[in-house]
Amino acid sequence: MKIKKVKNYEEMSRIAAELIIDKVRSNPSINLGLATGSTPVGMYEKLVQDHQEKGTSYKSVKTFNLDEYIGLSSENPNSYRSFMNKQLFNHIDIPIENTHVPHGDAKDPSQECAEYEALLKKNGGVDLQILGIGGNGHIGFNEPGTSFQSETHIIELAESTRRANARFFNSLEEVPTQAITMGIASIMQSKEILLLVSGQKKSQAVKQLLQGDVGEHFPASVLKTHPNVTIIADEAALSEV
Ligand code: GLP
Repeated sequence: MKIKKVKNYEEMSRIAAELIIDKVRSNPSINLGLATGSTPVGMYEKLVQDHQEKGTSYKSVKTFNLDEYIGLSSENPNSYRSFMNKQLFNHIDIPIENTHVPHGDAKDPSQECAEYEALLKKNGGVDLQILGIGGNGHIGFNEPGTSFQSETHIIELAESTRRANARFFNSLEEVPTQAITMGIASIMQSKEILLLVSGQKKSQAVKQLLQGDVGEHFPASVLKTHPNVTIIADEAALSEV
């Protein structure tokens, strides 16, 4: 894993965006794996700004999001589909049919998982996967204990994850209890991975990632076994290391 230490959230967002823009310009039909959460918001803002000012085109880019809450329709403002449309897709020239987020309201969520995994494979997999990290080391929604062999699957959200994400909902009760997530094996298939980490509240997770053992108790630790991972972390996130 390569580690790029940056000053703060702003610098993390800018450097991550520059890296993506570079990749999109050199490979206009790149498959991007995208993440939600607060961490990539600043990066998405910078991609939009660059698209508007410098015209980087996403016409042939395909995107595959990591995860979606089960039970939320794509119109629900708390769905990750809504998040992606609002933060990025509505502001760049990507054809919406090139953007993929698991369907949280699929009649048969298990079938949806199988179809999503097949879609990834049919498209040749992800070239560059963007990741954040949960305080408990989750990547996508792969909670501690998830098999490293897992493909896209249904997961019971950890109580700590529901609490951490309750800030987006009216109450904790409204936070779904399950999600569809790309599995650890699906994520590890990506040719390249970019992990973004910012802030003091991630410092323990970063410490565990960098100093702890590889194991299913800490999902992000699997990244140590991938040949092409870059971590962009700010000073606060690295403060315990
Ligand atoms: C969420 C998402 C993850 C994200 C993580 C961290 O639950 N499913 O993909 O990386 O938790 O979120 P944040 O960036 O808001 O700290």
